[in-house]
Amino acid sequence: MDEKSSRVLVVGGTGYLGKRLVKASLANGHPTFVLHRPEVGVDIDKIQMLLSFKEQGAKLVQASFSDHQSLVDAVKQVDVVICAISGVHIRSHQILLQLNLVQAIKEAGNIKRFIPSEFGTDPSRMMDAIAPGRVTFEDKMSVRKAIEEAGIPFTYVTANCFAGYFVGGLCQPGAIIPSNQHVSLLGHANAKAIFVDEDDIATYTIKSVDDPRMINKTLHIRPPENILSQRELVETWEELISKKLVKTTISKEDFLTKLKSLEYAEQVGLGHYYHVCYEGCLTNFEIGDNEEEATKLYPEVNYVRVKDYLKRYL
Ligand SMILES: NC(=O)c1ccc[n+]([C@@H]2O[C@H](COP(=O)([O-])OP(=O)(O)OC[C@H]3O[C@@H](n4cnc5c(N)ncnc54)[C@H](OP(=O)(O)O)[C@@H]3O)[C@@H](O)[C@H]2O)c1
Repeated sequence: MDEKSSRVLVVGGTGYLGKRLVKASLANGHPTFVLHRPEVGVDIDKIQMLLSFKEQGAKLVQASFSDHQSLVDAVKQVDVVICAISGVHIRSHQILLQLNLVQAIKEAGNIKRFIPSEFGTDPSRMMDAIAPGRVTFEDKMSVRKAIEEAGIPFTYVTANCFAGYFVGGLCQPGAIIPSNQHVSLLGHANAKAIFVDEDDIATYTIKSVDDPRMINKTLHIRPPENILSQRELVETWEELISKKLVKTTISKEDFLTKLKSLEYAEQVGLGHYYHVCYEGCLTNFEIGDNEEEATKLYPEVNYVRVKDYLKRYL
């Protein structure tokens, strides 16, 4: 086997990010395995997707999170495990199920790298986040703790804002398509966020799996041209549609008051927008020891610029 092409198992491979990880793994020449959980049952879309992965060269591996031995057997077939299990409350949040996977990886004893389902804000910097949104970061930190206690080699991927949510919605919670008429600005709207195309997240993640520079480190994906404030994002859209939007402003206080009146899952999501857009939590720190920046490590990747991402909504 080519030393540079570890066998990769993607867990959560039919998900929003997971399917992109499968695609990137195959495109990078890794023997690619995708977990097929019996629990997907007669979900025809998932089955069809799994079959299409197989057609593209992936191997499907049957295993269940409620069957420890099946997870151990699955993990034993590969060198690298990437988990993209759900972690968005308005969809599904199963981050702690990964503790079962960590136990299986520990028992199997053969895994050279584990990338847990994170792909967002660095949870280690979010322990003071507001409740209930903090739960996302706490759960991801519980998984980190288990990984490190088990002595499993890891890479954590901090992917910042998925463009589909944040660029598509011009940073407005609850919106994923930009309006041609109106936008609600979050406070002064000058806090810098970082927007990343989801396929690029998968590409950078896959590049890191065999990279010795990324063992036991955090990979921050910070495409320099995509570090923009909400105001700059809106201006980019206005330029594309040749029109100024009508703008209203939601003060920090009003945002927090509204948050409290929502359902739990929405409160979690809004909490994340609060830290990103009002506090600038993605850009208020320098990348430190045991951390690397993806576009510096892999300059050959021609990442999608925000303006080009926005063009798909025209
Ligand atoms: N930074 C951002 O803006 C941002 C945005 C969205 C998500 N994220 C992060 O990205 C990661 C992936 O999120 P996603 O939105 O791509 O996830 P998703 O599409 O909601 O779900 C991913 C997969 O999770 C698996 N899953 C769901 N429920 C399960 C259960 N009960 N038991 C076992 N597996 C289950 C399924 O895998 P199968 O294929 O096995 O069915 C599903 O396809 C999460 O860590 C999330 O927090 C970040």
